[in-house]
Amino acid sequence: MRVFVAGGTGVLGRRAVARLVAAGHAVTAIARTDAKAAEVRAAGATPVAVDLFDADAVRAAVAGHEAVINLATSIPAFAEAWKPWAWRTNARIRSEGAANLVDGALAAGAARYVQESLAFAYADGGDAWLDETAPVDAGGPTASMLDAEAQAARFAGAGGTAVVLRFGGFHAPDSDHVRDQIRLARAGLAAMPGRPGAWLATIHVDDAAGAVVAALDAPGGTYDVVDAEPMTRADQAAVLAAAVGRKRLRTVPSVATALGGNAVRLLARSQRVSGAAFRAASGWRPEHPSARAAWADSVDGALLLEPPADPGRIERHRGPIRALVGLGAVGALGVGAWAQFRPRSFYDSFPGFGRTWVSVDGPYNEHLVRDVGALNLALAVVAIVALVTLRRRSVRTFAWATVVAGAPHATYHLLHLDDLEGGVDVVGNAVSLVGVVVAAVVLLVLTQPVPGTTARLAERREPAGSTPVATTAR
Ligand SMILES: NC(=O)c1ccc[n+]([C@@H]2O[C@H](COP(=O)([O-])OP(=O)(O)OC[C@H]3O[C@@H](n4cnc5c(N)ncnc54)[C@H](OP(=O)(O)O)[C@@H]3O)[C@@H](O)[C@H]2O)c1
Repeated sequence: MRVFVAGGTGVLGRRAVARLVAAGHAVTAIARTDAKAAEVRAAGATPVAVDLFDADAVRAAVAGHEAVINLATSIPAFAEAWKPWAWRTNARIRSEGAANLVDGALAAGAARYVQESLAFAYADGGDAWLDETAPVDAGGPTASMLDAEAQAARFAGAGGTAVVLRFGGFHAPDSDHVRDQIRLARAGLAAMPGRPGAWLATIHVDDAAGAVVAALDAPGGTYDVVDAEPMTRADQAAVLAAAVGRKRLRTVPSVATALGGNAVRLLARSQRVSGAAFRAASGWRPEHPSARAAWADSVDGALLLEPPADPGRIERHRGPIRALVGLGAVGALGVGAWAQFRPRSFYDSFPGFGRTWVSVDGPYNEHLVRDVGALNLALAVVAIVALVTLRRRSVRTFAWATVVAGAPHATYHLLHLDDLEGGVDVVGNAVSLVGVVVAAVVLLVLTQPVPGTTARLAERREPAGSTPVATTAR
């Protein structure tokens, strides 16, 4: 079939174009820059430079095609989405752009028109399953989907076959939104407004692209294209947390959702959407059997495109780690300087405050006391480097050095507590020496690498038979 694709260079579009070509269709796709035209050509399709708002150019470009597919959008980034005016271009694409495409399709005598739309425009359905008959509450930024759907209906009214695909939110490794979610998840936040138990309608973008191809053979109508087994926000957040190596993520507080305006309120709804109708009508099946599989795949893919900036940098527990290393540095520096430069005083008076822990344990030996001082100063150097750089390797080196020096030291003194004079000395000596070793072990635990991420990234580098991720980040 000769197929015209608008939006064929987008997150969904470039996958759809590749699959349409693979299915044997002759594809023309809009590409508005030379670089995108090259991408379209590389995918085996023919690029054409057209602006959807230029009605005459659209009509000329669409001429000669049997099917027209509209996947064009302009959805603002997360940080912009709360501004009503950030959605203007998107609304115009769905109204004026879709109208121009339908005019072009009708003028060309095309038999079929496929329109991208949204499954997350349904009113809150709680835990109930929603299908294409559920009430739509497409307020604010999602209202324009109704304009696009109206254009599809106009095409059908003129005798053509129109297929509207209401997609769930895309799981896509190269989606700006997924990447933003990962960045926020690394900072501990699940950027999914709504109750933890509220359902989220999503779809892996590869499966959405498969649905676009299937739509060329499906009976006319409006269909939800979503994961076969949807998930709640709590479950999605748990998958995301595991992917970025966190135990759990904080959710968006309901007050922030309330203050976020209409766009955020609409995104907070519970939508347990069923894709059964499209599966039955087209035979299409998602390759990712559940939202869990789709989400994990897209998050891992996104991490591959944008791995943690510097795995050696400590990003979690920085405060406690800094405090423990700082205490270690001060302790080693104090003991080291005292023993090295005032060995007799150290022997007679350590640890100070009128207590004597060294002289009770054998005769004075200046050489040995100075050596203890020098070794503590050496440990202080390691601690200071760890404190200044706060690198995983330097902090762990300091922690291991403290364990190696501190464990035998504490063991010796625990076996010789009888030498000390009173209960205060016994408790003080035991607690301080064991405390040093415990603090070092805590440091080792706190500085463990983020679990899972590195191993999963290694696995993902050469995944067998998976769809390659486009390298043009969007
Ligand atoms: N269901 C969903 O969850 C859903 C749906 C859509 C988008 N998104 C997400 O939203 C983010 C941003 O999306 P996006 O809309 O910027 O990009 P996109 O969905 O990746 O692609 C939009 C497509 O529309 C084309 N387009 C836009 N304006 C046009 C115009 N005036 N004339 C001709 N073509 C035009 C773009 O062409 P150019 O390449 O030339 O700009 C591009 O091919 C992405 O991360 C995407 O995953 C999610």
